[in-house]
Amino acid sequence: MVRRLVLVQHLLLVVLVVVGVARALATGTAPLPLLIASAALLLWYAVGARAASVRLREPGPRSSGRTDGGLRAGGWWLLGLVACWLVATAVSPDLVWVAFSVWLLAGHLLPLRGAVVLGLLVLVVVVARGGHAEGWSTAAVVGPSVGALFALALSRGLQALVRDNAERRRLIASLVAAQEEAEELHAELAQAQREAGVLAERTRLSRDIHDTLAQGFSSILLLARAGTATDDPVGQRRLLDQIGASAADHLDEARRVVGALAPAPLESGLTDAVRRIAGRFEDETGVEAQVRVDGDVGGLPPPLEVALLRTAQTALANVRQHASAHRVVLTLAEAGDSVRLDVVDDGRGFVPEEAGARRETPSRGGYGLRAARERLRELGGDLEVESGPGRGTAVSAHVPRGTGRAPRGSW
Ligand SMILES: Nc1ncnc2c1ncn2[C@@H]1O[C@H](COP(=O)(O)OP(=O)(O)OP(=O)(O)O)[C@@H](O)[C@H]1O
Ligand SMILES: [Mg+2]
Repeated sequence: MVRRLVLVQHLLLVVLVVVGVARALATGTAPLPLLIASAALLLWYAVGARAASVRLREPGPRSSGRTDGGLRAGGWWLLGLVACWLVATAVSPDLVWVAFSVWLLAGHLLPLRGAVVLGLLVLVVVVARGGHAEGWSTAAVVGPSVGALFALALSRGLQALVRDNAERRRLIASLVAAQEEAEELHAELAQAQREAGVLAERTRLSRDIHDTLAQGFSSILLLARAGTATDDPVGQRRLLDQIGASAADHLDEARRVVGALAPAPLESGLTDAVRRIAGRFEDETGVEAQVRVDGDVGGLPPPLEVALLRTAQTALANVRQHASAHRVVLTLAEAGDSVRLDVVDDGRGFVPEEAGARRETPSRGGYGLRAARERLRELGGDLEVESGPGRGTAVSAHVPRGTGRAPRGSW
């Protein structure tokens, strides 16, 4: 729309000059000075018209009026145009109406005060020239005044409109940019959540594989070694049965780990599950395993039961692998708002600080207690180990009853 208005403005000046020249020629004005003056006027206009139309299309913010370099150049150009117009008007009063274009341009190119001052000066010339040529009358004053007022108001209004448009465009652009930024952030967040999900799943798998499959293979290995070490066919038969039972149990566990299901022993509650793994431990190792229950430890949310059961499995696996114990006692106890699990053996013991300081990689062991502690901490609980060479080992885990909601990674 603005482009069209700019065209109309150019056209208006050309029409005013052409009509003026035609009238002047018709009324017997000398052609040479008339043509030179009007050609100079058109030429000067053409030189700066492009800049003036750019200024109209892209007005700066309201406050920049005085310091704007482009505006200052436009102002000088306009003064030059006024000079050309004055010469043309001197040559023929028929060119006086080019003043309308001058008023429009003053409205576009000058700050309001400058536009009003220049507009008034031009108006004085128009009125004086008109009065001089055609006789003084009220119409000779009012007509040009209304014209000047109309042109100035038109150009200022137009400029406000264009400025609002530009501001709206800027606003839309910044909204679009903000939306794009929000979309990018959203994508990054989704990516981070995906990565966190992958990490949690990996942690769950590695802990569960450690507590179930790795311990299963290790017990099968021990049973197989015992089987090859004895010549007694009855003993071998019993060991083979145990290997079969252990393999079947752990195959079931493997399927549950992959399917992210709760462990099979927990289907009838934590106490039963601990009794069952203790009974199997005793059968396979010959180490006496006793289970005690102190208070109400039932009704825990599944993630808490899973965490305690896995801790018991890890602790029993350690007794089998490291303790050379004769007896192990597992105690499930109600302790205020928490539930505790203690696994105490009478084996050779160890220095917990040294075991912790070794920081082995999972592939070389040293993962069990650390993983159990992390799992319990995620649920608001913790794990402590008390031991010393020759003093046996006590592993003590606790979880607060309230933390029913747990991240997927804790199963
Ligand atoms: N009941 C125990 N008796 C004696 N030593 C123990 C006992 N429990 C743990 N330890 C010592 O603590 C170390 C760390 O145990 P942890 O369960 O973290 O790792 P690991 O058993 O060596 O390997 P992983 O469990 O990853 O297969 C063991 O290597 C062992 O030296
Ligand atoms: Mg271990």
